[in-house]
Parts: sequence; C-alpha cells; structure tokens
Amino acid sequence: MNALAATSRNFRQAARLLGLDSKLEKSLLIPFREIKVECTIPKDDGTLASFIGFRVQHDNARGPMKGGIRYHPEVDPDEVNALAQLMTWKTAVAAVPYGGAKGGIGCSPGELSRSELERLTRVFTQKIHDLIGTHTDVPAPDMGTNAQTMAWILDEYSKFHGHSPAVVTGKPIDLGGSLGRDAATGRGVMYATEALLAEYGKSIVGSTFVIQGFGNVGSWAAQLIHEKGGKIIAIGDVTGSIRNKAGIDIPALMKHRTEGGAWKDFHGAEVMDSSELLVHECDVLIPCALGGVLNRDNAPHVKAKFVVEAANHPTDPEADEIFAKNGVTVLPDIYANSGGVIVSYFEWVQNIQGFMWDEEKVNMELHKYMNSAFHHIKAMCKSQDCNLRMGAFTLGVNRVARATLLRGWEA
Ligand SMILES: NC(=O)c1ccc[n+]([C@@H]2O[C@H](COP(=O)([O-])OP(=O)(O)OC[C@H]3O[C@@H](n4cnc5c(N)ncnc54)[C@H](O)[C@@H]3O)[C@@H](O)[C@H]2O)c1
Repeated sequence: MNALAATSRNFRQAARLLGLDSKLEKSLLIPFREIKVECTIPKDDGTLASFIGFRVQHDNARGPMKGGIRYHPEVDPDEVNALAQLMTWKTAVAAVPYGGAKGGIGCSPGELSRSELERLTRVFTQKIHDLIGTHTDVPAPDMGTNAQTMAWILDEYSKFHGHSPAVVTGKPIDLGGSLGRDAATGRGVMYATEALLAEYGKSIVGSTFVIQGFGNVGSWAAQLIHEKGGKIIAIGDVTGSIRNKAGIDIPALMKHRTEGGAWKDFHGAEVMDSSELLVHECDVLIPCALGGVLNRDNAPHVKAKFVVEAANHPTDPEADEIFAKNGVTVLPDIYANSGGVIVSYFEWVQNIQGFMWDEEKVNMELHKYMNSAFHHIKAMCKSQDCNLRMGAFTLGVNRVARATLLRGWEA
C-alpha cells in the first residue's frame, strides 16, 4: 500500500472513530486548491526546457498552509495530494497553527546545473507568488531541495511583495533560518523516544537501539540518543551497516563518515549484512531512511519492542498488524518525525517577530511541543481505545474538524 492509500485509510478510520459527519469527512479530504504550472527556462546550452510544477494546498482551517517542495523526476500529483493532506494532520498533531500543503517540480535536480536550478526555482516562484505567502502558504525544503532553494524563493518572492523572510522556512541562517533547524527532526525523534520509553517505565539510558539511515535524521537521532546515554548497537545506511553489542561510539563514527570513511573501515564495530539491521535484537528500532521498509516479510522477525518511525511511512499496514499481534509498539511518523515542522514554525515566528532565539530556547520549546503532543496522543488512545497511530490521527483530524466547524464551513 502506498503513502496515498495508507493516509486515506488512516483518515477514514479516524473519521469513523470520531463519528464525523459524512459531509464534513468528504469536505476535509478535498484539497482547498490545486495549482499546476508550466515552468520554461533556458538551459545553459541555450535550448529551452519545460517542467511541470505543482502546489497542492490542502487545508487552512487552523492557519497558513505549510509543507515541503520537492524536486524529483516522479513528482506525481496524487502523491503530492496525499502528502499535503498528511501535513494537515501532522501540523494539527503538533499543535502548530498551520494547515497542510505540498508541492514539487517534475525534474531531475542532479541533471541540472546550479544556475538552471536557480532559474527553474525563480520561474516556479513567479508563477505561484500570489498564491503563497507568510499568512497563506509557507513552503519548506523536501526531497531534492535545500536551504539554497528556499533562499532563491525568498529572493524572488520579495521582488513582488517586499522583504518577506517568513514566506519560506528551512532557510540559511544568514537569511533568517533558525538555529537548531538542522538537528530538529532527529532531536524531535530523541524527545519522542524518551516520552515513549518513560510511559513504559524505561529510559534512553539502559536501552539498546538500532538505527537505519545515517543522513540528516538518522545521524542527529544517533548522536543525541548517544549523548543521552543510549546504547546504539547497530546502525547503517545504503552503503553498509555495522554492529557492536557493547555500543557504538557515535561521535567517532560521525567523524569517520564525515571524512569519507567506509563502514567496513570503522574500528570499534563489526560489519554486518544490511538486510539484518531491521531484525537485529534491540529495545528500540528507528528507521530513518525509506518508506515501506517494514513489511509482511520482515515484520514477523523484528525483535525490537518499540519502533519509532523517524522516516515517513516506514511501516506497511500489513506489518502494523503483525506488530500489534506480536506486542511491538509503533510510534507513528505523523508524530515521531514532526520536530522539523515544529522548528519550522519557530523559524516563522522568529521572522515575523524580527527577534531571533538562541539554540537553547529552540530546543527547550521543541521539547515542550513534542512532550505535549505525546500526552495528547496518549489521551486520545485512552478515550478512543486505539493504538498510537490511530491516537495521533484522531487527534489531528479532530483538531482540524473542530476548527472547520467553528469557522462555519457550510455557509
Ligand atoms: N529531514 C527532515 O527534516 C525530515 C522530516 C520528516 C521526515 N523525514 C523523513 O526521514 C527520512 C530520512 O530523511 P533525511 O532527511 O535523513 O534523508 P537523507 O537523504 O539525509 O538520509 C537518508 C539516509 O537513508 C539511507 N538509505 C537510503 N536507502 C537506504 C537503504 N536501502 N537501506 C539503508 N539505508 C538507506 C541513506 O544512505 C541516508 O543515510 C525520510 O523518510 C524523510 O522523508 C525527514
């Protein structure tokens, strides 16, 4: 089941549990606005190339719409639609005053030069500038885009509307980006894990962890869990994996990998087969790489007691059912990886106030938001008698439904 089917299924199940009116349920699913634009740019060789850009603005009942812009050859409008919807529920679970959106351009960023990417980003911004904005729709980086892409959007948008740093988040620090944004998703994963373990009378100290992925999210989650005294006993990425029962020295691994060292050359751990990573013995398994990695084939062999979904959609619904039967507790992505969007919100707040926070304040506020969301999800699980995934979905959907009703949606 793909992300679109899984999101719609979870939404419908949540709507049923909440007893939502069927007309409201239908209305919440339909996007507020779908934008499709053609972006033609001169390539470096003088020829013209055209690309299709999308922006799906799903819902704004709780505030300006918020979501990433991805550059990928297979940007599919249906998928963008599902991801925009997911952002609506995710921002509601996090209790940040946003709705949901997502966008993208069908292109292969690796095959475009920096100046071609800049021209493409500027043309896309020209086509959508009157439909995004600080209080309308606030884009952020996603697959294939980064802080530089946001800087170009900010610059192009500001030509039409005046200096508007809060129109995008995930910007470079020099242009109003927030301290702590880079680590935010991994840090949020650490706070979420801490809250989950505490619920079971456990803590990061004394627990063992396996992490799949050592990119932005995985490397920050690993460093912060290690700092908190957690023992990471196996970790890997697309190029290899290592294990050490006594715990891996993560700062040393970070240095080794940053300097271009291969997994097999890292001292203090042994190389392992990457296909065994997800089924390795541990207390907490944290997938931080791809979607769909936990499926009906490997789920019966997962030995972890807890799965913290740092990646988007790492668990297939079939694996979810197997985990429920086997007593494996899953902390869902819609909450576990929301640290990034929460600190994006802090970035927006700082830009609007024109007053920048120090990193300590960013991290302290992130901790508060992650903890509060966890306790609200738990309360939902109790009142709806459901698992954490449905607890998070019912929490998000209920908040959006309430805001919609209060505004008077039928008029
Ligand atoms: N970066 C964020 O702020 C953020 C926020 C929310 C969700 N996410 C999700 O978290 C996940 C990771 O994002 P990221 O920003 O760290 O990406 P990234 O590109 O920085 O890192 C991805 C990591 O996954 C590894 N990987 C890829 N294929 C793999 C495979 N087959 N087996 C093992 N490892 C593999 C890569 O080697 C890399 O280490 C994605 O699912 C993303 O959608 C990221």
